Amino acid sequence: MSTALNWTGKDAAFALGRRLISAETSGRLGEGPHFLRDGDSYVPTVDENMLVVGDNLPALTGLLATHRGRIKVIYIDPPYNTGNALAYKDHGHDHASWLNFMTPRLMLARELMREDGVIFIHLDDGESAWAQLLGHEIFGEDNSLGTLIHQRAKGGGNSPSFVRGHDYVHVWAKSAEQVGAFLTEKKAPAKLEIIDGRRMLVETDVLRAGFGRYARGQERRLMYEDILEVKGAKKLAEVDAKLGTGEYVLRAWGPTGKHAVVRVTPAEKASSKLYSIIKALGGQNDLEDLGLGGIFSYPKPVELVKTLVASQTFFDPEAIVLDFFAGSGTTAQAVMAANHRDAGSRTFILIQTPEPLQTKNARSLVGADSEDGFPEISRLTAERIRRAAKRHHPELRFTEVAVAEQ
Ligand SMILES: C[S@@+](CC[C@H](N)C(=O)[O-])C[C@H]1O[C@@H](n2cnc3c(N)ncnc32)[C@H](O)[C@@H]1O
Repeated sequence: MSTALNWTGKDAAFALGRRLISAETSGRLGEGPHFLRDGDSYVPTVDENMLVVGDNLPALTGLLATHRGRIKVIYIDPPYNTGNALAYKDHGHDHASWLNFMTPRLMLARELMREDGVIFIHLDDGESAWAQLLGHEIFGEDNSLGTLIHQRAKGGGNSPSFVRGHDYVHVWAKSAEQVGAFLTEKKAPAKLEIIDGRRMLVETDVLRAGFGRYARGQERRLMYEDILEVKGAKKLAEVDAKLGTGEYVLRAWGPTGKHAVVRVTPAEKASSKLYSIIKALGGQNDLEDLGLGGIFSYPKPVELVKTLVASQTFFDPEAIVLDFFAGSGTTAQAVMAANHRDAGSRTFILIQTPEPLQTKNARSLVGADSEDGFPEISRLTAERIRRAAKRHHPELRFTEVAVAEQ
């Protein structure tokens, strides 16, 4: 019995995906979709920050020419059945339409990923189950790395059943065995100190005297001078080796004149494994901070996307990050914030359609009395990138291009 997911239009959607990733339409200028800047053809370089304005289907196809196999992290928060994407609405509101819409885009996304690349797909209850099966089909169930829970600031109180306070982030690798642990900055129990102008995590209790060997109130740390007696020569040699490399230092401790063994790690390099439930607040607040509040509905928190991006680029601060449902541009700001933390030079590629932004504050982007009507979402994306750059990354350069289909 076949256990594959089936829906109307599936074969055509996969055939379209296969056609787009095939060599003939891989986006060399003049053949496939390409990019335009100020009306001229534009070939991006691999290391530039970009906002591509247009439908992500031709945009992703166009990117194959320069970015095939080069993207380390993809984060997407696609429109749902209740979403406002015109490209998607045109084709109906049912699950089959959503799957047909997503299939060729995810196939292209996979083609753009590095062998150790990962994709985060952020969804609420509406499409989550379907998306998970679709993801298994496109990336392979063996490459599924699991589902994270994003816990939001407050629940949606108007659901009849629960106060909905979370959604899902499904994660796949292009090749699971190539992907290392998802990491996050280490917090407790280490203490942050500034040593020689650097933020260092200082752990003073790396060596314990051993359980049951101390009474209440007694010192639990094993002092350097007591290692030989309590733990033996092998342990002492181990500690001495780490003292030699600078991973440990000795610090005078208590009234006895003895020394505690202390681990010092540069804060940005001290990591723990990411917990699968991520609480991240904000979203709208992040936009308000930049003077862009009340224009775009349901932006995701910068902190969440920053955590996801950093988790797979902890020791890879030059990685390329892609978001092809960019919305208000949260991912660009998250990449800048991740770079700010560890002085990295990760780059972002965002793709967003120029669909009208019809919310009450949207006209503030083009001037309240503008004759232009409503501005496009992509205009908000670009403005957010500029404002966030002023804050995190004043020297940031980014290129805005339009996708041109032939
Ligand atoms: C749920 S929103 C993403 C919000 C974003 N994560 C944020 O924090 O602002 C989905 C976005 O995808 C855009 N979109 C929908 N269909 C698209 C398409 N075919 N190509 C590019 N963008 C599209 C919508 O306009 C919308 O801005």
